[in-house]
Amino acid sequence: MSTQRIQKRVSDSAAIMSEIVLPNDGNGLGNLMGGRLLHWMDICASISSRRHAGMVCVTAGIDSVDFASPIREGEIVILNSHINRAFRTSMEVEINVWAEETKTGRRRQCNKAFFTFVAIADDQKPVLIPELIPESKAEKLRFKDAGVRRDFRLVLSGRISSVDAPHIQKYLETRRQSES
Ligand SMILES: CC(C)(COP(=O)(O)OP(=O)(O)OC[C@H]1O[C@@H](n2cnc3c(N)ncnc32)[C@H](O)[C@@H]1OP(=O)(O)O)[C@@H](O)C(=O)NCCC(=O)NCCS
Repeated sequence: MSTQRIQKRVSDSAAIMSEIVLPNDGNGLGNLMGGRLLHWMDICASISSRRHAGMVCVTAGIDSVDFASPIREGEIVILNSHINRAFRTSMEVEINVWAEETKTGRRRQCNKAFFTFVAIADDQKPVLIPELIPESKAEKLRFKDAGVRRDFRLVLSGRISSVDAPHIQKYLETRRQSES
């Protein structure tokens, strides 16, 4: 039996979603509430993860989310997600968010985050997902960076020790060399 993993491209699972900020989405100051945006981001990222894995995926973690610019009631919100790297059963999904002014069509980036999703089989256990093949220069760079971020997030969440994180060890070694 072949043990070769299915291979997919970044474009196979990219997702775009648009929303309008309605009065019910607000925080009382005429701006979009952060929790509502996180909900939309989770859905958009979830679509990419499902397209890549070909099955239901759950959110395992979210890296730092910066709310760089408030989004006003009545503005259009555009969410864009793609897979940066597939590991064994988990994958890093990058999501970028823009707000669009209705009258001018001008867009500004408001938010960026990295989500980790895990594919879950019918027995409720994590399951092997297809490999991601980065093609463009930008995709290859994001793929590489995702490997570094994975080390840091697994150490920060206490899932592994820093001595088992090769990228962190490499970083510490470079620091030691530059200081000696
Ligand atoms: C995510 C979950 C499936 C992981 O289960 P687990 O028993 O820890 O499984 P494993 O140890 O085999 O880990 C599975 C993968 O998840 C990754 N993972 C688990 N927790 C993680 C975290 N906090 N951050 C990043 N990756 C994580 C592991 O590194 C592993 O990745 P890999 O297979 O690609 O190497 C489980 O914790 C879960 O079901 N959590 C709840 C998910 C959920 O309900 N989300 C919605 C919240 S409202």
